[in-house]
Amino acid sequence: MPGNSFGKLFRVTTFGESHGPAVGVVIDGVPAGLPLTVEDIKFELEFRRPGRLYVSGRREKDEPEILSGIFNNRTTGSPIAVIVRNTDVVSSFYEEIRYKPRPGHADLPFIMKYGYENWDYRGGGRASARETVGRVIAGAVAKKLLMLADTWIAGHLRSLGPEELNEEVTFEEVLCSKYSPVRASKKVLEEKYEALIKKATQEGDSYGGIAEVITKNPPIGLGEPVFDKMKAELAKAIMSIPAVTGFEYGLGFMVSKMKGSEANDEIIRKDNKIGWKYNYAGGILGGLTNGEDLIVRCAFKPTSSIRKPQKTIDLRNLEETYISVIGRHDPAVAIRGVTVVESMVALTLVDHAMRAGVIPLVKLTEEQGNIVQQRWERYVRSCKPMEESQL
Ligand SMILES: Cc1cc2nc3c(=O)[nH]c(=O)nc-3n(C[C@H](O)[C@H](O)[C@H](O)COP(=O)(O)O)c2cc1C
Repeated sequence: MPGNSFGKLFRVTTFGESHGPAVGVVIDGVPAGLPLTVEDIKFELEFRRPGRLYVSGRREKDEPEILSGIFNNRTTGSPIAVIVRNTDVVSSFYEEIRYKPRPGHADLPFIMKYGYENWDYRGGGRASARETVGRVIAGAVAKKLLMLADTWIAGHLRSLGPEELNEEVTFEEVLCSKYSPVRASKKVLEEKYEALIKKATQEGDSYGGIAEVITKNPPIGLGEPVFDKMKAELAKAIMSIPAVTGFEYGLGFMVSKMKGSEANDEIIRKDNKIGWKYNYAGGILGGLTNGEDLIVRCAFKPTSSIRKPQKTIDLRNLEETYISVIGRHDPAVAIRGVTVVESMVALTLVDHAMRAGVIPLVKLTEEQGNIVQQRWERYVRSCKPMEESQL
């Protein structure tokens, strides 16, 4: 069974290679009546686009072209197909990789599985994170549809290399991190991240980081016992992102060091509703969303394509040799990765919201469409540079 599709009711299939003519996505199962324009998609794509400060220098405009499924700026209920053409392709950078697989990248495993003669070495082929363009396009649609439940999703970079956030962060700050070139939610952190990226670039090296995505007001009860629990679904969704090496939610791995009396989150009355005191479980208990903020984190490894020479094998003579990767690569994939994690959270939640009957399968009423549109516009306005939010 191939593995290019995700979701049961909101079903997404991504296609395309890094150095092929285009990458894109087919989204099947979007109900009719959702207001949707190319601008909505562009808004989200902009935050994973290369060619900006501190990320890959590949100069792609990432202009989405909607091929089907939308009429008069509303979804029709038909499959939505969107492509983004690859315009800044320099395959010559990959001539060396053709014979020298990169340590830490997918080159050698792809050769081992599919055969050297079938391996698309240009830009990493299907293993390239260019594929995640399709996820972000679908994520924009999912995020907008989730606005029907007034569910908002935003992420930021909790840590980069040795630097990390050590204080409380508000959802507003997390929304503003979209406009930070290093996806930081605080100005002081932004400066530290920037210094690290400059250092990595000078040294021909790279850093990893931890992305955190917060979902406000998730519908209650999402997740299907027993194999499709929300924690399992999110883990799979997020672990499928290139370069993600670990997933946690709530207290995460830290909980294993605590006593039960410390780790149990007390059930209390909050604003006349039942809730949990500290949200230690990150919004998921028993595999179901419990109405608290959904908080997930994942670790991104440092970019494997680095200038610093590293050992590999020359496949022409099977001799040990060195490779120094040139070309345009992210000094820390986690920066652009945050948007991809947000998208995978949105895709998981929207699929389950449809499975739970929270979002209609066939169509939104005109009134529902208008509510979604108003909330989306408020969301777009709320994502603004840190400086502006402090005015
Ligand atoms: C947004 C994003 C951008 C990425 N950019 C690069 C890159 O420029 N160079 C690189 O070597 N890897 C990059 N990666 C990671 C590789 O695609 C990934 O490490 C590779 O496919 C191997 O898969 P694995 O790390 O999941 O095992 C990026 C990942 C993401 C999410």
